[in-house]
Amino acid sequence: MKIIDDLNSWNSFKKTVKKGSIIGLVPTMGALHDGHAALIKKAQKECSHVVTSIFINPTQFDNSIDFQNYPSNSEKDIQFLKGLGVTLLFKPSEKLMYPYEIKASNYDLNGLDKKLEGALRPGHFQGVATVVDRLFELLEPDRAYFGLKDFQQVEVVKKVASMRKNPLKIVSCRVVREDSGLAKSSRNFRLSAKQKKAAASIFQALKFAEKEIKIFPIPPIALEREMKSIINSSGFLKVEQIEFVFADNLDLIKSQDYPLDHYQRDVQCFVSAFAGDVRLIDNYRIS
Ligand code: PAJ
Repeated sequence: MKIIDDLNSWNSFKKTVKKGSIIGLVPTMGALHDGHAALIKKAQKECSHVVTSIFINPTQFDNSIDFQNYPSNSEKDIQFLKGLGVTLLFKPSEKLMYPYEIKASNYDLNGLDKKLEGALRPGHFQGVATVVDRLFELLEPDRAYFGLKDFQQVEVVKKVASMRKNPLKIVSCRVVREDSGLAKSSRNFRLSAKQKKAAASIFQALKFAEKEIKIFPIPPIALEREMKSIINSSGFLKVEQIEFVFADNLDLIKSQDYPLDHYQRDVQCFVSAFAGDVRLIDNYRIS
């Protein structure tokens, strides 16, 4: 596996690439797991060359403690990637990603960055937009792969890609879960065994919502109460927020009393919860 940390090496690699080849990029922040592996495997199937990047992006953390605590294990990640047959790893320095100032730019994201996760983590999506745009600029991939675990991030990245002079294709991949239903996440590495077991209640609550909507004209306010109770009664988790939105535009469903199944539109439910100081997120199409 070639580990590339400067632009010269990348450009020399690019010179060896045959015309018409498809270069796929899988951006990550490391602490790799099967969720990342699924993106890489999909990219390997669909592209002539796949480059995985690892860069813990400071500008997308709204909280410096979260940034400092973000799990990092380079050696383990390298072994993990070798096991997947990855041939190219891009591991840039902070200086290469942010040559002038470690600061997010200001993108017009049509308000996408202000809702849901964006409302809870101000500036987060501007940081994501900045770092992926820089990766696109440096590596010029034809495609980039992102997981629906971060549903809103996929929409943000699509918007960023569409604004580029040479737009690239953004491919989204389904959420990979533990057997318990817990969405795989680098943050799960920071959970105790008890917290991890309790964290499965997030998906249980989402599945409950899906079932409830099918059999009962339930309004958001009641569904949220029931979901909160499932998660909070796990003993080790505290719900931060549960939101119901229209899946096609991520607009919040404002009426608290109107039954969710009456809209005749796909509804996506977003959950965030804390296990100690570890913030977990998940989302699911409930109708
Ligand atoms: P990171 O959290 O490392 O995730 C990298 C990619 O893996 C993202 O596209 C994320 O959605 C996907 N992913 C993580 N867990 C997943 C799961 N359980 N199932 C499917 N896909 C999963 O997301 C980021 O990094 C950063 O914001 C990044 C895009 C790299 C920009 O810094």
